Amino acid sequence: MDYSRKISERLWNMPDKGELESHREETFIDDIIQKSHIEKELLCHLDGIKTVFDGGAGCGRFSILLAKKGCAVTHFDISQPMIDKAKELAKKDGVLDKITFVKGALEDLKDFNDKSFDLVISFDAPISYTYPNQKKVIGELIRICRKRIMLSVSSRLGYLPYLANPIQKNQFILDETCEDPFVKWCIDNKANAVESFHFSKDSVMNLYKEGLMGGDSEIATYEDGGTPWCITYTFMPDELVDILKTYGVKNIKLAGPGAYARTLPNELLVKIMNDSKQRSDFLDFCHLYDSNPFVCGMGKDNLFAQGELE
Ligand SMILES: C[S@@+](CC[C@H](N)C(=O)[O-])C[C@H]1O[C@@H](n2cnc3c(N)ncnc32)[C@H](O)[C@@H]1O
Repeated sequence: MDYSRKISERLWNMPDKGELESHREETFIDDIIQKSHIEKELLCHLDGIKTVFDGGAGCGRFSILLAKKGCAVTHFDISQPMIDKAKELAKKDGVLDKITFVKGALEDLKDFNDKSFDLVISFDAPISYTYPNQKKVIGELIRICRKRIMLSVSSRLGYLPYLANPIQKNQFILDETCEDPFVKWCIDNKANAVESFHFSKDSVMNLYKEGLMGGDSEIATYEDGGTPWCITYTFMPDELVDILKTYGVKNIKLAGPGAYARTLPNELLVKIMNDSKQRSDFLDFCHLYDSNPFVCGMGKDNLFAQGELE
């Protein structure tokens, strides 16, 4: 199904995508937790890292962070609006000259030589949007990596509860009064989503077995000129470990950012987030709890993995 790349390209090239994505941590608590987890992991694994490839780097959340830490970063993304936003933010942070921006698809990394980068990263699911090429894409990311790889992909065990909870994103809204269009949509559609919901064993079993979110209806929407969400391949934890091992990655560690926070209601999450000491302590503890491999599958929607090549 080579539609994935076309659908992904149309979605991420929407003109407002870069702007919207750059505000995610101001609007959703699960995004704060996930980005915070990844940031903590990156910052304590920078020994011997001078060059970085960020695949599906978006508006630069991590490419800019690493450039600020002195790394030479290749910021690679399929979306021009994302790259434009990242350039604007990199300039504001004074690291534009530390970052090489490349527009391209993860499905085609042949321009990069073997072992070109000390660290290769790809966060918040770009790999999952390359279905049916996700395994090959992981192989290519490993091929261009010399020392360390860190990925986060869509998590199958993490996504399955979505199918029994169409209002799951509401739990993580930081400020119900904000102007963000997605926040407004979540609030306005809440009653209707509950009203029209019915649990479908066929749907959960299908996702459990096949791992695919989307397919025929996304293709039909795309063919009608619409902009559906990407066809997304979700990984099981053991499946991801096996793929990484196949390509020679060692010392693999998994984590499930968001697993701890999932157990808390919105009112308490908001209260914690609005107190700087509690927020910082909570994010530290989430990082510890969510790093326990026994909860990695229950991360919010991403499965985090890291490993070494030498
Ligand atoms: C959810 S954003 C994540 C951005 C960033 N990695 C982060 O964690 O903040 C996903 C990014 O992947 C990019 N992307 C999606 N499919 C891609 C593909 N096939 N090749 C390269 N980039 C892709 C999108 O344009 C978008 O910027």
